[in-house]
Amino acid sequence: MSKTLTARVRSARTLSPGIRELVLTLPEPLTMLPGSFVQVATRPAGTLLRRPISVAGSDGTELRLIVRAVGKGTNWLVSREAGDELNLLLPCGAERELALEGRRLLLVGGGIGTPPLFHFAEYYQPKTVETRLIIGALGGEEVEGYRSAAPADVPLTLVSEDGTVGEQGLVTTPLKRLLAEDSPPTTVIACGPEPMLAAVRQICAEYNADCYVQLESLMACGTGLCQGCAVPMVAGGYKLVCKDGPLFRAEELVWPLPATPRPLRIEVARSAPAPKESLAISLGSLKLKTPILVASGTAGYGPELQAAGGLEGVGAIITKTVTLEPRAGNPAPRICETPAGMLNSIGLANVGLRRFIEEKLPAARALNLPVIVNIGGSTTEEYVTVAEEIGQQDGVAAVELNVSCPNVDHGGIHFGTDPALLGDLTRRVKAALKGQPLFVKLTPNVIDITIPAQAAVENGADGLSLINTLVGMAVDVASSRPIIANRVGGLSGPAIRPVAVRMVDQVRRLFPDVPIIGLGGIEDWHDAAELLIAGANVICLGTANLYNPGVAGEVADGLRRLLTWRGMAGISELSSSLNGM
Ligand SMILES: Cc1cc2nc3c(=O)[nH]c(=O)nc-3n(C[C@H](O)[C@H](O)[C@H](O)COP(=O)(O)OP(=O)(O)OC[C@H]3O[C@@H](n4cnc5c(N)ncnc54)[C@H](O)[C@@H]3O)c2cc1C
Ligand SMILES: Cc1cc2nc3c(=O)[nH]c(=O)nc-3n(C[C@H](O)[C@H](O)[C@H](O)COP(=O)(O)O)c2cc1C
Ligand code: FES
Repeated sequence: MSKTLTARVRSARTLSPGIRELVLTLPEPLTMLPGSFVQVATRPAGTLLRRPISVAGSDGTELRLIVRAVGKGTNWLVSREAGDELNLLLPCGAERELALEGRRLLLVGGGIGTPPLFHFAEYYQPKTVETRLIIGALGGEEVEGYRSAAPADVPLTLVSEDGTVGEQGLVTTPLKRLLAEDSPPTTVIACGPEPMLAAVRQICAEYNADCYVQLESLMACGTGLCQGCAVPMVAGGYKLVCKDGPLFRAEELVWPLPATPRPLRIEVARSAPAPKESLAISLGSLKLKTPILVASGTAGYGPELQAAGGLEGVGAIITKTVTLEPRAGNPAPRICETPAGMLNSIGLANVGLRRFIEEKLPAARALNLPVIVNIGGSTTEEYVTVAEEIGQQDGVAAVELNVSCPNVDHGGIHFGTDPALLGDLTRRVKAALKGQPLFVKLTPNVIDITIPAQAAVENGADGLSLINTLVGMAVDVASSRPIIANRVGGLSGPAIRPVAVRMVDQVRRLFPDVPIIGLGGIEDWHDAAELLIAGANVICLGTANLYNPGVAGEVADGLRRLLTWRGMAGISELSSSLNGM
């Protein structure tokens, strides 16, 4: 049975850049068999789920982990030092004893797949005729790192693709050579990237060797609770990597194995940024220097964001929703933090159309960026009046229609949730403008986003913004009152990103050519790329501006590096590049 416990880091050392060995002291004796792993809580790093890490050694009182930094969780883990505590769920994995007496054991590790094989080596060396480790990695420095952590008395064959340490090439070359030798029956256990595992399996079949593979997969629980880590079996159905594996006989599995996303944040960070011009993009008739906009309500009217964190990387500004009359906004409290997000019910507090035109619009224009004016209203007539006035102003690059406003003439129903109301509003606002492009900003609080999308496009929208906030609620447990004075608020931030990605994808498939502004929970370049690939032409940063006001510059830098890494000449190549679109 698995349990959670807190272990203390006894020692931590760097094996090679980005790869660290942690030796943990357990609070109680516990022996783990080779092939097992632990689920490490990395929540302080902003992650939700535990991260699976193989046991590289276990002597009953201590555990050895070797971790490569690839993302948030592992970056946090590799920065642990002696004395730090780690919360572990363990043991994980089907702990099974292999019958290897009288056999030779060849352990083949590729990159960070190598550490669990140290555990196999230590455990099975006394039980086998011979145990040998073949370790391969891209660079010699990494291979050296693993060598320094390998069990001292196990013979090693080292291979590096760059040839700087050991043999040059792939682990499959020495594997073939060893299997061709006259030797006792051989068992091979391999752990590493999927193409390496597939090649090892093939070679073992040729040389009649028993082949096991130690698999990785994306995991949530690590203990069989969720059925999330399923892998298809030749015999039919699925087995769970966490509960039935991670060690499987290669012949039991259906090949190729299910693909896991490639961790690329660190690889991309190391790429050189593509030229600044590579971010230039057209959004309908608008020509923008970057595809990074700032979302209405999260950047003031523009100068506020400039004062808070700067406008580096910003391609256009979308101003706070403006209504005909000034609005003081909703009663306080108006905001509250939620897991990976926040609720807001600001109530469209704004200076009103007159002051907007006299003060705010000129100040926004002075920033020398295209200004997209977001407008709202309580009746169709109010929207139309605002649109007529805004349409007459100079320097309005486009208008964004906030349709998440309650319609007082129709019992407070939000314009964006009723296709007939939305279609009528879009048509009349478009007619009131003086040719400026009109983007309708859809609300996600509907069952099928393609219905309002269609209503807007068929009634004259030049483009769509997806998405506004999702309605949510939080309760103060001490007072039994809603935390937000208005009872409910709009949920924004990373929590809503998958909803935004899904809706952008749905709408892009319906309208291959309609310009789309994608937003919802974008925190960094990786999130921005997700929305762009799913179908957005440009993206907006919203809540992220509130806690990282310089974020647009970081996103621009990351996107330029991603273009280099993907070998793309410009950002428009990335937009709508989803496979199977
Ligand atoms: C049974 C098992 C044993 C493992 N043993 C080790 C080990 O000994 N040492 C080690 O450094 N790593 C090991 N891993 C991989 C490690 O769990 C992932 O690298 C880690 O979960 C990534 O978390 P992150 O927060 O750093 O990355 P995230 O920010 O979550 O993601 C970064 C990238 O990594 C991808 N990713 C996330 N989880 C995995 C995964 N399980 N496999 C492949 N890609 C993933 C994400 O999809 C994303 O592309 C093991 C994985 C499994 C399933
Ligand atoms: C504090 C706050 C105020 C907002 N005000 C407006 C607004 O006035 N008009 C509007 O169309 N959207 C408004 N939004 C919604 C955002 O523009 C954006 O659509 C939403 O927050 C999702 O993006 P995000 O998760 O990146 O923040 C507001 C969001 C927040 C967090
Ligand atoms: S990760 Fe939940 S069942 Fe394997």
